[in-house]
Amino acid sequence: MSLLPILCYPDPRLHKVAKPVQTVDARIRTLIADMFETMYDAKGIGLAATQVDVHERLIVIDTSEQRDQPLVLINPEIVWTSAEKHVNEEGCLSVPGIYDGVERFDAVRVSALDGEGTARTIEAQGMLAVCVQHEMDHLLGKVFVEYLSPLKRDRIKTKMRKLQRAERS
Ligand code: NI
Repeated sequence: MSLLPILCYPDPRLHKVAKPVQTVDARIRTLIADMFETMYDAKGIGLAATQVDVHERLIVIDTSEQRDQPLVLINPEIVWTSAEKHVNEEGCLSVPGIYDGVERFDAVRVSALDGEGTARTIEAQGMLAVCVQHEMDHLLGKVFVEYLSPLKRDRIKTKMRKLQRAERS
């Protein structure tokens, strides 16, 4: 297993639209293992393949307190959403240090393949529902800061660019 570099906003590669995974083979299983290692190392609760510059529809999530409930969603599709939406504070491993409110459905039902390639439907609510919607946005090339006002987004872009310059020098 190995740690993968995480793309940082406003990297244009974060806006690529992911293609469906064709087969859940050894390459995908290795990618899943590496993505979990990367996510746990970065203390995140979710990671989309887009964030590690792989543009295929694959997400790993673990919203549990003990970090022992790994969830893999391959080719996820939302098949049902609750009527209610609420604003929750979100962050993202690709936008370190930034947290802001985004409106999401309270609950969603998602059909996807699991890490073995078996079709499953899961119902998510609370933090898991928010995380699933956030990660599925990544697969469409969308970062959560794009829900914020243009002014806030520009400020975040400037801050991120400064941070990246400081890291490089
Ligand atoms: Ni994210």
